[in-house]
Formats: sequence, C-alpha cells, structure tokens
Amino acid sequence: MKEAAALRRLEAADDVAQDLAPSRVEVSRAMITGETLTPDVHPPLDRETGAQLCTMDFADAALDIPIYDPAVGQTIDGLVQEWGHAAALREVGVEPTRTLLIYGPPGSGKTVTAHYIAARLGLPLVTARIDGLISSFLGTTARNIANLFDFANRYACILLLDEFDALAKLRDDAQEIGEIKRVVNSLLQNLDLRREHGITIAITNHDRLLDPAVWRRFEAQIQIGEPEDDAREQMVARFLMPIEAEPSTVRIFSYCLAGRSGADIERICSAVKRHLALNAESRDGPGLFHALSAVLARSPNQTETPARVLARDPEAFVSLIANDSTIGLKQIEIGEATGYGQSRVSDLKKAKRHTVLTEASHA
Ligand SMILES: Nc1ncnc2c1ncn2[C@@H]1O[C@H](COP(=O)(O)OP(=O)(O)OP(=O)(O)O)[C@@H](O)[C@H]1O
Ligand SMILES: [Mg+2]
Repeated sequence: MKEAAALRRLEAADDVAQDLAPSRVEVSRAMITGETLTPDVHPPLDRETGAQLCTMDFADAALDIPIYDPAVGQTIDGLVQEWGHAAALREVGVEPTRTLLIYGPPGSGKTVTAHYIAARLGLPLVTARIDGLISSFLGTTARNIANLFDFANRYACILLLDEFDALAKLRDDAQEIGEIKRVVNSLLQNLDLRREHGITIAITNHDRLLDPAVWRRFEAQIQIGEPEDDAREQMVARFLMPIEAEPSTVRIFSYCLAGRSGADIERICSAVKRHLALNAESRDGPGLFHALSAVLARSPNQTETPARVLARDPEAFVSLIANDSTIGLKQIEIGEATGYGQSRVSDLKKAKRHTVLTEASHA
C-alpha cells in the first residue's frame, strides 16, 4: 500500500519535472561546428593577470523554464526551433539566426534566458564578460579577444557576451581613442567571423548605449521587460513554492508587485517565506498576506503604490483592492485571502480608507 502511494507520488513528481524540463532540440551539425567541450578543457587566460577570460556552463536539463510574457516566449521558442531545423530553412533559401541580442532592465531574466537556450539546444555555454576581456594593456585586450573567439570557435558551444554595454563605454572613452577603436573593431569583426562556427548571444542592460554599428550585427533582438499580469502571477506561484498559495493570494501578491522585475519578485517571495518560517505564521492566505505586508514595510517604497499602502496599513490596502475592479477579486475572496472576512471587507470598501491615506500622504 505504502509503496503504491510512494510510486504515485513519484509519478506525479515526474509529471511536474516533465512540465519544467525544457524539451531538447537537436541542433544540426551544419549549424554548429567544432569539438566537444568538456569540463576538463582549460579556458583561455589573460596573460597579464592569469584571470579566466570565460566561464563554461554545461547544459542543465533540470533547469526551470523561465517565465515570459507570451510575445517574448514565442520569439525565444521560434529561435530554438530555427536552430533545430536548419536543413528545412535552407531548402527555402534562408539561414537560421546566429546572433542574438537580449536587452532589458536588471533582473529581468536575460542571463537565465541564455542558459535556458543553451539547455534546450543541449550545448555548453561559454560566457565572457566584456569588461573581463579589457586589460589595462591594450595589446593584451586585442589578444584576449582573439583568444576568446578562437576558443569559442574551436568547440561546439554557444558564446555568451554578457554586459555587452561595456563595449560602448569603452568606445566613448577619450583616452587612446585610436587604439580603442581598433579593439572595438576587432571585436565586431570577430563577431562577424564567428557566424561560420556557431551561435552568439550578447546581453545588455543599456540598449541605448549601443551604436547602430553594433546593433545591426545582431540578426535578432529580444527585449525582456518587467513581467505583465499573467507572467507575474506564474512567478509568484513558482517562487512561493513549496507553499502552494491560493489563486486569490497569488493575485494579491501580483497586484502589489506590478512593475517589479523577476529577480525582485523572487527576492520578495523568499523574504516572505523566511518571515513565515521564523514567525511561525500560518502558511495560508492570511499568513502570507501579513508576511507580505511585513516584508514590504522593510523595503524602500518611494512612490504611493499599492505595495506601500499594504506596507503601512493592511486595512487601507484591503479597502483599496475592494474598490479596484481591475484586481478581479470578489469581496468573499478578499475576505478569505486576507483573513478579514467578507463583512469587514465590505465595511472597509465603504470606508475607502485608502483614499484618506493617499490624500494624507500627498498633503
Ligand atoms: N523571466 C524570469 N523567469 C524566471 N525567473 C526569473 C525571470 N527573471 C528573473 N528571474 C529570477 O531572477 C534571477 C535573476 O535573473 P537574471 O540574472 O537572468 O537577470 P538579468 O536580466 O540577467 O539581470 P542583470 O541585468 O542584473 O544581469 C534569476 O536567477 C531568476 O531566479
Ligand atoms: Mg545578467
């Protein structure tokens, strides 16, 4: 009996794992050339400092699928499909995309996306930071760039250039302008030549810093921004695990965290779980609601957002969401999720506590 139950649990866990495991796409060898990269291969080093010019990550099949707004998710999936179907593309005279620029604000999931793409293609990821390539000795910088690309081109891998905007900063640097220009140009040339060998992904926070010469080198560009409603709810539900929050609680968290990045949402959900564990609060709606209020009260909230209202005065927040139809929760659901009960929610709704609060804070 016991074993049967354990087996069922295992099977259920397996289903979840399958949901999360990225489905692997077989990359055609015509797309990616080179020897197999293994963990015992030594990465190239900076000659002056001995620092590694890149790190190597090997495809992690257990990686969670990042959470995206639908348009972003479709774009990424489309690219992955291209890389798996190079022959079909060639039959109609087109090539799969080989250079991808990912841009967006901090913590939006750009680096996880590169890891996710590598996992789906089953390829190792060779990551270089542009500022790590730049040596105080300009001659060494040129050599570092050449060595990095030689390495990436020798092995079947995806080359990831993280913090690519350091390049633009370098270009603006007034010092030794001629030499710097040559270094930047050599990087761009290497980028062009690498297209014979495999896929390159570059990441930047500051898309505006990149000039058109850099921009047009990338065949595809993906902007990842702050998650919208649906994606935010999925993130809240995922980052609160193993606590399984009710949909109305997830909705309230998501409402409070509008405009935040994925990394922020993860950080706040972790803080909520810590608070619950240390204060022995219940893991139900009301417990999570109070923990969220406590966590938000500790973090800086400059503007008058719902998060700030919740941080200062949970009752005012209940009044706020009871009056806001966009949250899409009935009074009874709010009552259960917050622990106030339906009739108190109804009173708070009429009292419009939040408007008083908002006006007071503006006075
Ligand atoms: N879209 C997302 N889906 C799932 N998790 C996310 C997402 N965005 C952020 N995260 C979480 O936040 C963490 C930070 O994300 P990541 O390092 O990819 O951000 P980034 O955009 O590269 O930020 P930075 O510009 O600061 O380098 C991840 O480890 C992940 O746990
Ligand atoms: Mg990053």
